[in-house]
Order: sequence, then structure tokens, then C-alpha cells
Amino acid sequence: MTRYDFLKSLGFTGAALMAALTSCVHDDDSVVNALTISPTDSGTITQPTTSTTSSGTTTQPTSSTTGSSTDLSTITNRLLTINLSTATALKTVGGYIAQSGIVVAQVSAGTYVAVTQTCSHEPQKAIIFNKTVFYCTKHGARFDLTGKGLNSFGSRGLTVYKVATDGTTLIVYS
Ligand code: FES
Repeated sequence: MTRYDFLKSLGFTGAALMAALTSCVHDDDSVVNALTISPTDSGTITQPTTSTTSSGTTTQPTSSTTGSSTDLSTITNRLLTINLSTATALKTVGGYIAQSGIVVAQVSAGTYVAVTQTCSHEPQKAIIFNKTVFYCTKHGARFDLTGKGLNSFGSRGLTVYKVATDGTTLIVYS
């Protein structure tokens, strides 16, 4: 059944039918998935992911608030495991660490974002977190928390990894 037939079967006629037929999702529209909250955990929130359907791929970081019952044991493709009790730089908002080629920052209270330490302008391990953005110390590329470039040096974006934490351990994974 075509879309036209389907809409007609629902009773659309005339101008209403044309409006329904032309109201499809535009290619540039963003698709935002629903906020996912673990039913067993009052403290774990996974941020929605956003992707664009054209003009490049943008992936929002997966951030986590600290919770007490997040089961980290099911996470595969681990890139980095951090003990939050000893990672003093991550105890404050705006703090970050660079380890194993990954930069992890606490971007707001209990929310962490992890990105590659290697800049997309040139393959230099020079990415840091600077207050609210990721920043390359070589030539000044700037990236937002989704990895989107904010100036010409950062135009190729930055790889953002997934993050999960139970409040004690933080895992970066792909
Ligand atoms: S190497 Fe990062 S901005 Fe040039």
C-alpha cells in the first residue's frame, strides 16, 4: 500500500491529504531518541543520543550521572576503566584526565564526557578540556561536548566515546 492509499484509507481527502503527504520528515531534521532511565535505578540517567540524517554525522556523547546500582559488568568494548576515588582531577566539575589516548572530563556535576586525545586537525595528542569545551593546544581547535568542531581547525570534529559509571568506577567504551 502506498502512503497515498494509506492516508486515503484513514479518511484524508483534498487539502488535508496534500498536507499529510507533504509533511514528511525533512532530511536535515534531527532525530532525538527518548531519554532512557533504568527502571531499577533512581540515579542512573543515560542522555539521549542525537544524530542528523544528512550533512554529516553527529553523535551526542553518552553521559552518565552517578548511581549506585549500575551494572558495569555487562559493558563490552571497554577502552578505559577509571577508579573515581583515586582520580582526583575528576572530582571537580571542569576537571579532566588524559590517559591511554583518551580525555575524560567531568563536564557538569556527575556527568562525564570522554573523547579521543588525538586532534582531528593533525594527529597530535594535544586535546584537553578547557572549562566547557575540548581544546587542542597545538593550533587551537575547539570542540563542543558532542565532538562538533567550533572553529576551522576543529572542522573535522572529535571522536566521542560512551561513558558509564556506578559512582565508583567509570568505564569508557565504544
Ligand atoms: S593539531 Fe590540533 S589544532 Fe592543529
